Amino acid sequence: MFALIPYTLRLLITTLLWDNLPPLESPSSELQFHLRHMHGVSNNSRTIFADIPQSYSDFAESYTVKTHNILTYKPPSFSAFSDARRKSIVNGQSGLLAWDGIDMQAPNSSHRETLLTLAKMTSNAYNEPDDKEWYGLGPDWNSTFSYGWEPDSDGFRGHVFVSTDNSTVVVSIKGTSVPILAGGPTMKKDKLNDNLLFSCCCARVGPTWSTVCGCYQGGNKCDLPCVENALIEKSLFYSVGINLYNNITYMYPEANIWVIGHSLGGSLASLVGITFGAPVVAFEAPGEMMAARRLHLPLPPTTHHITHVFNTADPIPMGVCNGVISTCANAGFAMESRCHFGKLMRYDTVGKLGWRVGVQNHPISTVIENLLMEDWEKPGEKIGALGRETPELVDEDNDCPVSDV
Ligand SMILES: *[C@@H]1O[C@H](CO)[C@@H](O)[C@H](O)[C@H]1NC(C)=O
Ligand SMILES: *[C@@H]1O[C@H](CO)[C@@H](O)[C@H](O)[C@H]1NC(C)=O
Ligand SMILES: *[C@@H]1O[C@H](CO)[C@@H](O)[C@H](O)[C@H]1NC(C)=O
Ligand SMILES: *[C@@H]1O[C@H](CO)[C@@H](O)[C@H](O)[C@H]1NC(C)=O
Ligand SMILES: *[C@@H]1O[C@H](CO)[C@@H](O)[C@H](O)[C@H]1NC(C)=O
Repeated sequence: MFALIPYTLRLLITTLLWDNLPPLESPSSELQFHLRHMHGVSNNSRTIFADIPQSYSDFAESYTVKTHNILTYKPPSFSAFSDARRKSIVNGQSGLLAWDGIDMQAPNSSHRETLLTLAKMTSNAYNEPDDKEWYGLGPDWNSTFSYGWEPDSDGFRGHVFVSTDNSTVVVSIKGTSVPILAGGPTMKKDKLNDNLLFSCCCARVGPTWSTVCGCYQGGNKCDLPCVENALIEKSLFYSVGINLYNNITYMYPEANIWVIGHSLGGSLASLVGITFGAPVVAFEAPGEMMAARRLHLPLPPTTHHITHVFNTADPIPMGVCNGVISTCANAGFAMESRCHFGKLMRYDTVGKLGWRVGVQNHPISTVIENLLMEDWEKPGEKIGALGRETPELVDEDNDCPVSDV
């Protein structure tokens, strides 16, 4: 509970009541999670949940992650955040928001095994669409359990894990770019959303392409207000994440919430993390900075509570999955945004391992089996080097905020 008191207030309390306060609880540096719910989006864009039955074998499996404490920023309230956003959309004002600094337990994203565990929690392992275990679990779930495979559903789905002490909830979000790779049904609405948010001008890949919005102005020009209006009218992308987060806080009002995700689910996790100050780990996610700008999200003083893990041979986070002949174009996507918030853990699989760039390097299984199974750099691999579990966490390039508009 103490961890939820705003940082500044806590400093004040600590100063005023120094002698009377109990010592700061030293936060446990390890948390153990169990799978407790599945979440998805129903036909009418509502967030739906299903509880995991105790009989299901994964109920007993536990996931252990190392933690450390970090400072994150929350808006004073969600309505204050929404007001600031509305002012920015309507008047172009960047609304000033009094963000609260909060000292919060977060996953240690330099710890390789912690990342490996989080990647597994993000993977598709459990939700086989024909798995009878998922039938009839809740009033909303029975007819919609296979969302994400239905052509007209909204596509985002995932799992909710709760720590044994109930202090922390991890929400995983699986993205919609999976059909690019699996060759499964592409989802019209998702494609529309994704192209509005992650391509420079609504997926105008080449002269022969019809775009998902009429904002292209010839040459390299794109009418940005036009893109934003199209978004405000049509985008469900961000609201899916916001509803999910709000529902989880309703279910677990006292808990710290972390959000993790793969691909577009990772980008959505980041946008939710920016909105609510929740720690985020995203895997192979396309750059979300452009999306945040188009959605007019007020930005906290720092986004270092967000970690992006990806490899340089995956064109989707690198922002190079575009052009008429790319795999993304074939599937009707243009993934051109390349700038990310927060800290980047960039596995240089092209430079170090000689991988060829292609979407075959995008799945979460690549992250689990090829990036995180072993330490990235063995001791002595470079002369005098001690070795590294994971690549160093770095910031996005300096030119990002300007060039990615
Ligand atoms: C979901 O939408 C599809 C097409 O719009 C429709 O055929 C289907 O019956 C809907 N399912 C439910 C449970 O409403
Ligand atoms: C986080 O993990 C790294 C890598 O294992 C370790 O060096 C560091 O001490 C950890 N940080 C904390 C606060 O435990
Ligand atoms: C799910 O099943 C229950 C009864 O088993 C029914 O009352 C409810 O309407 C169903 N929900 C949907 C969305 O069809
Ligand atoms: C956590 O919550 C569950 C269900 O809400 C409860 O059964 C359990 O006793 C709680 N555990 C702790 C350690 O508070
Ligand atoms: C989830 O949140 C939405 C609005 O954000 C609300 O309408 C809905 O009732 C909530 N659902 C649950 C299961 O809490």
